[in-house]
Amino acid sequence: MPSPKVKEVVLGVCGSIAAYKAGDIIRRLKDNHCDVTVIMTKEAAQFITPLTLASLSGRNVYSGMFDKDSSPMAHIELARSAEIILIAPATANVIGKLANGLADDLLTTFVTTSRAEVFIAPAMNDAMYANQIVRDNCAKLKKYGFKFIEPVKGKLACGTVGVGHLAEVEDIIKAILK
Ligand SMILES: Cc1cc2nc3c(=O)[nH]c(=O)nc-3n(C[C@H](O)[C@H](O)[C@H](O)COP(=O)(O)O)c2cc1C
Repeated sequence: MPSPKVKEVVLGVCGSIAAYKAGDIIRRLKDNHCDVTVIMTKEAAQFITPLTLASLSGRNVYSGMFDKDSSPMAHIELARSAEIILIAPATANVIGKLANGLADDLLTTFVTTSRAEVFIAPAMNDAMYANQIVRDNCAKLKKYGFKFIEPVKGKLACGTVGVGHLAEVEDIIKAILK
């Protein structure tokens, strides 16, 4: 039997407490015949190291637009090769930037450049997720065809229980490989 076609996935990782789950997401994607390139925001590196994500993906991790060790056209090159974009965890900040056409870092510039299908898995405090501006930004992105893998109710890092917990990794993988 021919082996399944390898999919090129770019995983965007944002500055959320749930960023530690990015390692598991990479592992599960690779188990499902995906090659994974990570673009992490500068803030994501406060939560998980680029070294961890590079080791798990087996590839360089991209972060800054102007990093000396990455190609000056990384956003264009990655946009050409990406078949699926998954932003997990996605912060209110990155959702807000994408919804408003802002491209002031590598991740948002790359997403704005790419024509690939984009999946967004938000993770944030429940009050943040319920904030009307965040709701409007999500609705706007959905209108433009972005697919959301909705957060679930659960115990949040701040100690409260509410909707904002990153969807289960298994459900994220199922949603994007459907
Ligand atoms: C401990 C801690 C946890 C945070 N968790 C989240 C989170 O889960 N979701 C979120 O939207 N913002 C969270 N933030 C705030 C973001 O890190 C902040 O908005 C940051 O500017 C996001 O940057 P980025 O969107 O470029 O990654 C958290 C901040 C701290 C200090």
